[in-house]
Amino acid sequence: MSSTSTTTAEGSLWLEALPDTGYPVPTAARAFDVLVIGGGITGLTTALLLKRQGARVGVIEAGRVGAGVTGNNTAKVTALQATRLTTIQQYRGADVAHAYARLSAAAVERVAALAVEEGIECELRRRPALTVAVAAADLPDVQTESDCARAAGLPVTMTDDVDLPYPTIGAARLDDQVELHPTRYALGLAAAVDGDGSAVYEHTRALRLHEGSPVRIDTDHGTLTGADVVVATHVPIWDRGGYFARLEVMRSYCVAARVRAGHSRSLAITAGSPTWSYRSAGDLMIVCGSGHAAGARGVDEDAYLRLEEHAREHWDVTEVTHRWSAQDPVPYDQTPMIGSYTPVSRHLHVATGFAKWGLTGGTMAATMIADRIGGGTGDSLVFSPHRVSPRGLPSLARMNAGVAVDMVGDRLAPGQVRSTTEIPAGEARVVRSGTDRTGVYRDDEGIAHAVSLRCTHLGCLVRFNAAERSWDCPCHGSRFDVTGAVLEGPAVEPLPSKPVPD
Ligand SMILES: Cc1cc2nc3c(=O)[nH]c(=O)nc-3n(C[C@H](O)[C@H](O)[C@H](O)COP(=O)(O)OP(=O)(O)OC[C@H]3O[C@@H](n4cnc5c(N)ncnc54)[C@H](O)[C@@H]3O)c2cc1C
Ligand code: FES
Repeated sequence: MSSTSTTTAEGSLWLEALPDTGYPVPTAARAFDVLVIGGGITGLTTALLLKRQGARVGVIEAGRVGAGVTGNNTAKVTALQATRLTTIQQYRGADVAHAYARLSAAAVERVAALAVEEGIECELRRRPALTVAVAAADLPDVQTESDCARAAGLPVTMTDDVDLPYPTIGAARLDDQVELHPTRYALGLAAAVDGDGSAVYEHTRALRLHEGSPVRIDTDHGTLTGADVVVATHVPIWDRGGYFARLEVMRSYCVAARVRAGHSRSLAITAGSPTWSYRSAGDLMIVCGSGHAAGARGVDEDAYLRLEEHAREHWDVTEVTHRWSAQDPVPYDQTPMIGSYTPVSRHLHVATGFAKWGLTGGTMAATMIADRIGGGTGDSLVFSPHRVSPRGLPSLARMNAGVAVDMVGDRLAPGQVRSTTEIPAGEARVVRSGTDRTGVYRDDEGIAHAVSLRCTHLGCLVRFNAAERSWDCPCHGSRFDVTGAVLEGPAVEPLPSKPVPD
């Protein structure tokens, strides 16, 4: 691809002008009924529902609340999710797909209700969701999705009325789904959680877990305890549940573009390949896609340029205003993992694996976990993290073979350059000196930053992502900035700095 990006702002539309929340770090040891780790939609919704049940809840967030994947997505809250029901049906059978559909529909209503009940101003609007067949070959899959959703009781219809500015074959449609501003929604949830014996902490990273009674969590600002602890860190940060072997982390990219006319007001996503996901926000059109496995080799600006070109091909774009990207874990059997952290954990809970539909899925998970902690079991048995799904085993084998190749292959690969002087400004290379290899990024001013390539999670070697200027791990999705600081887990420790090689 030859053109260059014309984007006027780096970063997510949803994180622009993020108000200062001012949540503190903990200054003393404190005991809660429930401690929630992670201040995204999953953790915050769980915390609010538990507070409403009478619990004193603490939330610890490594960065800012709502600024994880919850602040970096397409912001559609819908029970019609491309062809997800068909996929779940293939892996888990019709009953699980139908349960997922019904719980997703309930989650959409839960989001709408919480926004009203808590008075959250988050630009929430009802919109139709569409799963669109662009080519004739995609239509059977769209029809199957519609049939599966209808069998689950969702009023999905087939339609030719698609508000995209290019020809399509047809679409499945579900009315009255929700678009919102996800960060404002998350901030509203956090405000409702904080106070009256409950507390939200920002810039506080959970480091170590001591599973007992109560459960103790060491953070970088001291130790907090919870009679129950909920791990809502997106990818679970502790390996004792074997999550890393069962989740594949997938990354996607988004741009927002100011367009003169023809905004698509539906929440549309295409069914075939490549996937394009669309929604509007005022006079902006948002286009997301360019997906790949996290930590893939050779990721560069093209990931964004493909989206820009697609937007310019179909709309009269005056300006590309924002661009952002994020990643989400996909379970080997395509169904979220919600329940006890290990088969024997009674007071440690987890929710993960939302496969890029976690605004709905995280809300669904919050309902189930609040129910579990309140003494129920409900549908959580269907989503138990400890299930074995025979039809997912080939995917499991493929994922772990890939990790083994990444773990060993990159160690055998030669360095890219022998000297830091060979690295152009704004780029990174692996510098080899003897048997030692160092990740070196030279910033726009020419200053070199050198880090160990060994991921602090389980030791795979990180790779440079030129689109985001980050060191990304191909094994389980941890990401680090050019100085080595953790951007995304499961890693909790930074990449060690190294002397800059000559
Ligand atoms: C490009 C893209 C588009 C998407 N579009 C949609 C969409 O339109 N609709 C939809 O439903 N879903 C969408 N998703 C998925 C959705 O955004 C996510 O599934 C959802 O936001 C996950 O929420 P979460 O709370 O589990 O994770 P997060 O929002 O990431 O929250 C987890 C939090 O935990 C914190 N954390 C991590 N480690 C620690 C630690 N050690 N200590 C303390 N805190 C920690 C993180 O800082 C983070 O804030 C999309 C995903 C992508 C990648
Ligand atoms: S994220 Fe697991 S080894 Fe890097």
